[in-house]
Amino acid sequence: MTFKRHTVTAALPYANGPVHIGHLAGCYLPADIYVRYLRSKGEDVKFICGSDEHGVPITIKAKKEGITPQQVVDKYHKIMGDSFKEFGISFDIFSRTSSKTHHETASEFFKTLYDKGVFKEEITEQYFDEKANQFLADRYIVGTCPKCGNDNAYGDQCENCGSTLNATDLINPRSTLSGEKPVRKKTKNWFLPLDTMQPEIEAYIDSHKDWKVNVLGQCKSWLNAGLQPRAMTRDLDWGVKVPIEGAEGKVLYVWFDAPIGYISATKELFANQELGIKNQDWELYWKDKETKLVHFIGKDNIVFHCIIFPAMLMAEGSYILPENVPANEFLNLEGNKISTSRNWAVWLHEYLLEFKDKQDSLRYTLCANAPETKDNDFTWKDFQAKNNNELVAVLGNFINRTLVLTHKYYNGKVPAALEYTKGDILLMEEISKFPAKIASSIEQYRFREALGELMNLARLGNKYLADSEPWILIKTDEKRVQTIMNLSLQITANLAVLMEPFLPFTSKKLGAMINLNNDLKWNDASRIDLLLAGHQINPSGLLFEKIEDETVDEQVLKLKNSKMLNEAETNKSEVLLNGDNAGASSASAAAAKADITFDDFSKMDIRVGTILEAERVPKTDKLMKLLIDTGIDKRIIVSGIAGYYIPEDIIGQRVSVLVNLAPRKIKNIESQGMILMAENNNGELSFVSPTKDNMNNGGAVK
Ligand code: 2FM
Ligand code: ZN
Repeated sequence: MTFKRHTVTAALPYANGPVHIGHLAGCYLPADIYVRYLRSKGEDVKFICGSDEHGVPITIKAKKEGITPQQVVDKYHKIMGDSFKEFGISFDIFSRTSSKTHHETASEFFKTLYDKGVFKEEITEQYFDEKANQFLADRYIVGTCPKCGNDNAYGDQCENCGSTLNATDLINPRSTLSGEKPVRKKTKNWFLPLDTMQPEIEAYIDSHKDWKVNVLGQCKSWLNAGLQPRAMTRDLDWGVKVPIEGAEGKVLYVWFDAPIGYISATKELFANQELGIKNQDWELYWKDKETKLVHFIGKDNIVFHCIIFPAMLMAEGSYILPENVPANEFLNLEGNKISTSRNWAVWLHEYLLEFKDKQDSLRYTLCANAPETKDNDFTWKDFQAKNNNELVAVLGNFINRTLVLTHKYYNGKVPAALEYTKGDILLMEEISKFPAKIASSIEQYRFREALGELMNLARLGNKYLADSEPWILIKTDEKRVQTIMNLSLQITANLAVLMEPFLPFTSKKLGAMINLNNDLKWNDASRIDLLLAGHQINPSGLLFEKIEDETVDEQVLKLKNSKMLNEAETNKSEVLLNGDNAGASSASAAAAKADITFDDFSKMDIRVGTILEAERVPKTDKLMKLLIDTGIDKRIIVSGIAGYYIPEDIIGQRVSVLVNLAPRKIKNIESQGMILMAENNNGELSFVSPTKDNMNNGGAVK
């Protein structure tokens, strides 16, 4: 089916932190490429996003930063919006769910379903923190996931296995506010009866067999398990007030209001001066069957966009349903899960401080490495390789050679093509296929493949120049060189048009260099007359710069340092949050042990070491088996740190090691020494490690 117009959304990011590369790769970059492509095809498209400003993640952040939730969302809405703009994410609107329009829209939506009798009103027992005097929903509660055993699953979702949970499903629940075991207390809430809606939802999913395998897989496992009614209201005070009597002190569930945020943002986009938001043009983008609605999201949002939001739209009745939900998997960073709280991330606003004007280098790497079908890893070395070996050596090199030779031989005037050889004709046929090839990959949400094809066009150009050697022919066959350079310039112009969705900054720069008509569209790129004979191009420069080893090495170091610093900070602030400043207070420290002589002390041989490998000791809670480089040798040490660190997080960690402790067997493993740990009054452990990087393994700790 062909569509008249497109509504494309990108997940509304929680306004509780800045944007990192995982966000960009997972959702915003593919959405932007898709939308830029549609615009270039001349399609009618609206690209909608905004910040998700409700929900427990915001109130938790506010508490952590000691400011109000409104101050949190104001701060991060701005930071996120700026980053998106700086990276060329071309939303038509970046709105926010704290806006008046959104509160009204979400309220009305709820009221419509309520008036239609859609909700089941139920009094259930929910967890309540008596110390904090508050109900505990979603992220206010953690416990063991009943599906995978992860000890830190949230009340609404387990980030380890992706299951969506109800707080009451958790095993050993504890409050994130006080750390206490919560009690159960009765409260009234309104449930969306997903159970009775299952046949409709199933039919809807079944009618979209073309969805990505990872998306269909998650939907199927939900449906197979049998859908359960889900509460659409919460006993919290931050959010959209529940607009009915008897619901005082309750707000809409954040996953009820957030997707409605797409609708409110569209309304705001169409608001005009005379009619304000009463302008009804937005409805075409949400209610007309000839509109294609596509949601770009990360994999943790699949159930909300493929099951819960469509169920809400079906129940309301006047909306179209999502046509596709191309969710990506996750991007890891240097082998570890990206983590905001552990500061294991590359933040977009920080990237630009180091790599000024190199937005496209990051866009390129993230697209070439996009986690489209499985989780993928971003490494700085790979970023450097993609920039240097592909952008500089393939794309940049072809364009640069073409432009330099045009200036050199023809003073920047496009030469006429005189006589085409058989090879030229074949080349022209090849060129003309690229727009359709790249388009087909984009339309199937295969952005890596699409980018690969774009690079193949540059490779074709490089091969043409290398095979025809105009720099040698210029001495013997000047006429032939004119044709070669004309064709190379046409490829350059086609590249400028076709690279735009992926590399918009470079496309603009190149367009200005070759003085390209700004109105050219995607389909024009199949032509070989985009630059007419005699057309004057402007002085050219390099499109991409090489990135040196030191630059990326610095980034890796920075990442490791900031993670360590942040860990220390987090431990400190968590202790403070819990109202316990014992970690900092000398008054509450244990009394010193009896005196020893200096000789006693110097018997201990303590060295700087590095953890090379780490794994949990099976069937124990606390023990981890570590392989340590002590500078003297590599040895196994068993340490009781498993409650405080995750094995993959501590590879590379610098530690202090008591290397002359007599070996002892722990759980049948010979432990050859001891790692020194600091312990606070809560019994929490932290490594004791040198604060300078130039302390070599084996260096004495004295
Ligand atoms: O996972 C998240 O970051 C959510 N804030 C996404 C919301 S998407 C939508 F429904 F608004
Ligand atoms: Zn789980």
